Formats: sequence, C-alpha cells, structure tokens
Amino acid sequence: MQQPHRIFPVLGLGFLNIFLNLIQAPMSFCADDPRYLNCSSTIQCGDLQGISYPFWGLNRARYCGLSPEFQITCNKSAPTITITNQNFRVLRINNASRVLTVARSAYWYNLCPRYLHNTSQVAPFAYTSDTVTDNLTLYYGCPSISSIIPGSMMESSHFTCKTNQSSIVGYVLVKKAGDFTSANLTSIRDYFGACNTSVIIPVNLSAIQDIEANVTLDALKAAIKQGFGMQWPDDDGLCQKCLKSGGQCGQVQNSGEFTCYCRERSHSSSCPGMP
Ligand SMILES: *[C@@H]1O[C@H](CO)[C@@H](O)[C@H](O)[C@H]1NC(C)=O
Ligand SMILES: *[C@@H]1O[C@H](CO)[C@@H](O)[C@H](O)[C@H]1NC(C)=O
Ligand SMILES: *[C@@H]1O[C@H](CO)[C@@H](O)[C@H](O)[C@H]1NC(C)=O
Ligand SMILES: *[C@@H]1O[C@H](CO)[C@@H](O)[C@H](O)[C@H]1NC(C)=O
Ligand SMILES: *[C@@H]1O[C@H](CO)[C@@H](O)[C@H](O)[C@H]1NC(C)=O
Ligand SMILES: *[C@@H]1O[C@H](CO)[C@@H](O)[C@H](O)[C@H]1NC(C)=O
Ligand SMILES: *[C@@H]1O[C@H](CO)[C@@H](O)[C@H](O)[C@H]1NC(C)=O
Ligand SMILES: *[C@@H]1O[C@H](CO)[C@@H](O)[C@H](O)[C@H]1NC(C)=O
Ligand SMILES: *[C@@H]1O[C@H](CO)[C@@H](O)[C@H](O)[C@H]1NC(C)=O
Ligand SMILES: *[C@@H]1O[C@H](CO)[C@@H](O)[C@H](O)[C@H]1NC(C)=O
Repeated sequence: MQQPHRIFPVLGLGFLNIFLNLIQAPMSFCADDPRYLNCSSTIQCGDLQGISYPFWGLNRARYCGLSPEFQITCNKSAPTITITNQNFRVLRINNASRVLTVARSAYWYNLCPRYLHNTSQVAPFAYTSDTVTDNLTLYYGCPSISSIIPGSMMESSHFTCKTNQSSIVGYVLVKKAGDFTSANLTSIRDYFGACNTSVIIPVNLSAIQDIEANVTLDALKAAIKQGFGMQWPDDDGLCQKCLKSGGQCGQVQNSGEFTCYCRERSHSSSCPGMP
C-alpha cells in the first residue's frame, strides 16, 4: 500500500535534481573566478590609489601579489610596507619604472625614534641609482659641542632628543667628495667616535645635495620626507601579457609561480581566446 507513495517523492526529487543541475551548470560556467574578482580590486590608502600587482594587502588577497615584502598595510591613511621588520612609508609607486618611493616610518615625525636601527636590507628590492645609501648619518649620544669641530656647521646640524631620563645630544653628518681633508678627518672621527650610536639613512640624491649646500635640520627633515627609491625585479613582461589578455596577475601560493587569473579560471600565463 505504501510503496507507490514512497516511489513518487523519490522520483520527484530526482527530477528536481536533474532540473537544478541543468540550470546550475551554465550558471557556474558564467560565474567569475573569485580570485579573478579579488585581484581585480586595487589598493587605496591615503594618497596611494589604484595599486595592483605585484602588491597585495587590504582588499587584495595574498595570492594577488608577490612575497610578504609586497604587502601594503594602511596605518591611519599612511600606506606602509615592512621589510625585515622595518616599516617604510610608501610615498609613490610607479609601475612603469617599477620604482617605489619610500621613507623610514620611524623618522617621519621626528629625529628621535624610540629604537635606533640602521636601515635594513631592502631585498627583494634594489636601491635606485638616485638613492644615496650611506652619506647621511645621524649620531646619537654625543658629547656636547666640542671646539675641536669647526663651528657653524656643527651648530646648525645639532639636535636634542628628550627621553624621560635625560636629553640625548645628536648630530647630522653628511659625507661628500672633498670634505674631510686630512687636516680635520682625525678630529671629526674622534668626536663622532665618542657618540653612543649612529644611524645611516638613505636619501634621494637631489635632497642630499640640498643638505650638502647648507646643513640645517629643516633640510634634513625635508630630505627624509622626500624619501628614496627602490626598484622591484623585472618579470620580463609576464604580468603585462596577462593584463592584455584580460586577466589579473597573481602567484600560486605553494609553488610561488606566476599565474594569470582569468574570468573562468586561472592560466599559467594569459587568458585564452584573446588576442
Ligand atoms: C580579497 O580577499 C581577501 C582575503 O581573503 C579579503 O580580505 C578581501 O576582502 C577580498 N577582497 C575583495 C574585494 O573581495
Ligand atoms: C601607526 O602610525 C603611528 C604614528 O602615526 C605609529 O606610532 C604606530 O606605531 C604605527 N602603527 C603601526 C602598526 O605601524
Ligand atoms: C600600470 O597600471 C595601470 C593601471 O593600474 C595599467 O593599466 C598598466 O598596464 C600598468 N603598467 C604596467 C607596466 O604594469
Ligand atoms: C649603523 O651602521 C654603522 C656603520 O656600519 C654602525 O657603526 C652603527 O653602529 C650602526 N648603528 C646601529 C644602531 O646599529
Ligand atoms: C652613552 O651611553 C652610556 C650607557 O648607556 C651612558 O652612560 C653615557 O652617558 C652615554 N653617553 C652620552 C654622551 O650620552
Ligand atoms: C619612562 O617613563 C615611564 C612612565 O612615563 C616609566 O614607566 C619608565 O620606567 C620610564 N623609563 C625610564 C628608563 O626611566
Ligand atoms: C658620498 O660620499 C662619498 C665619499 O664617501 C663621495 O665621494 C660622494 O660624492 C658622496 N655623494 C654625494 C651625493 O655627495
Ligand atoms: C674640513 O676642512 C675643510 C677645509 O679645511 C672644510 O671645508 C670642511 O668644511 C671641513 N669639514 C667639516 C665637516 O667641518
Ligand atoms: C643656511 O641656512 C641658514 C638657516 O636657514 C641660513 O641662516 C644661512 O644663511 C644658510 N647658509 C648658507 C651658506 O646658505
Ligand atoms: C628624487 O628626486 C628627484 C628630484 O626631486 C625626483 O625627480 C625623483 O623622482 C626622486 N626619486 C625618487 C625615487 O623618488
């Protein structure tokens, strides 16, 4: 008695499944790959707008960019990247020349950061040719102004950091060709050798020339805020080819290989059916 009643609902569900499969198949074919959609979004943070591959972070997933150094975070509208634990404020990104203009975050607001660290290695980036990496040094914990050091220049390049214990006397020193003749080299070395620590800051060539012309703290602060350039490695047009075919560039997480996210799925270099 019960049998026909049981068969009927089962058959009914079977038909329903077939029907659903028929409409779902073309729908899933049309649906865009979520990775394609995610990597189509760009990074916006403060003055930095419309940033895409090889950068990731914020609304772009890890698979839309390269290694951790290419992650952009946004600290109260200050775009930031972190390389070997050191934070850099991102001022500009030029994707045609693959150049990133950055400044040390620790020195953005003043010359007295809590922790004194030299600028870390910037790999996988490389300094641009207009970056002067080791001519500008800030010395901390120096003896008070000494008569050994020729007057006015040292006076104008002197600054003081207040810690809650005491004041730390600091100086800016710019190395340039022709400076430090044998007459004053030894005394300068002795004087700065007596300072507790020093930090070397990379700056743009044009800014260091301004400081060399007239060492002042304002020129120094302006030089730091102007930032310096680093370039990321060339991918031999790999991403450009993917973009031209209508795809979005990214990276396969476990292999680190380049991948091109197309509307329907990912391909190794470019989307099919496009010129
Ligand atoms: C992309 O993916 C990341 C990580 O899953 C997520 O946080 C982000 O909101 C996504 N962005 C968009 C535009 O969907
Ligand atoms: C964000 O920026 C502030 C300065 O405006 C700084 O004190 C703070 O350490 C930064 N936070 C992070 C996580 O970098
Ligand atoms: C630079 O970015 C723009 C827009 O985001 C894009 O159209 C262009 O193809 C990119 N150029 C290169 C060299 O990647
Ligand atoms: C920075 O580098 C210079 C030169 O190598 C070194 O003398 C100095 O001690 C370093 N400073 C710090 C804080 O490590
Ligand atoms: C340098 O540091 C040592 C120990 O931290 C301190 O005793 C000394 O007073 C400092 N020298 C100067 C000139 O600040
Ligand atoms: C600096 O001041 C804070 C409180 O403002 C205190 O906790 C800390 O111990 C002080 N540091 C030193 C080295 O005196
Ligand atoms: C940097 O210092 C070196 C000497 O150590 C000097 O030859 C060079 O000209 C300096 N660069 C600039 C831009 O002043
Ligand atoms: C070293 O001496 C030369 C000439 O005697 C002078 O032009 C230069 O400013 C001096 N350097 C410093 C850092 O005072
Ligand atoms: C350097 O700058 C100071 C302060 O701006 C100014 O008083 C001085 O005349 C300048 N020196 C030169 C040589 O330009
Ligand atoms: C260095 O400064 C010059 C002159 O202001 C500028 O044209 C150049 O773009 C700067 N370099 C970087 C990497 O920002």
